[in-house]
Amino acid sequence: MARIAFCATGSRDVFRRLKRTSATSREEDFEPVARLADVPAGQLVGVAKSDGERICLANVDGEIMAVSDICTHQDFSLCQGTLLPDATIECAWHGARFSLRSGKPLRFPAETSLPVFQVRVVNGAILVGGRKL
Ligand code: FES
Repeated sequence: MARIAFCATGSRDVFRRLKRTSATSREEDFEPVARLADVPAGQLVGVAKSDGERICLANVDGEIMAVSDICTHQDFSLCQGTLLPDATIECAWHGARFSLRSGKPLRFPAETSLPVFQVRVVNGAILVGGRKL
């Protein structure tokens, strides 16, 4: 189980640094949001896309996943929750659980799915694209 490495404020610095230096994204939808080294295995990290959308990155045994950082129950930041070994995330506020693969809520009180985003890792940078689900 893991806790966040950083959230919100720190993510803006990472984003700006990567935006300046990245020339690896070939598709316009994908943008760098963090360095792979900033999201160790078992960790959740909050970042923001250039449009301000808050994303929660998760490293599940080396696989990077991205979902909305906003819990569909009462808008709490999911990157402050817990990453579980079965690729689910538990909200720290009321304990709702979501699948990181499908975004589906798995435990009350959440009843609405989370947006799930496409992810690529290119030259050590994590790029997030549009919604996958
Ligand atoms: S805000 Fe996430 S479970 Fe209530």
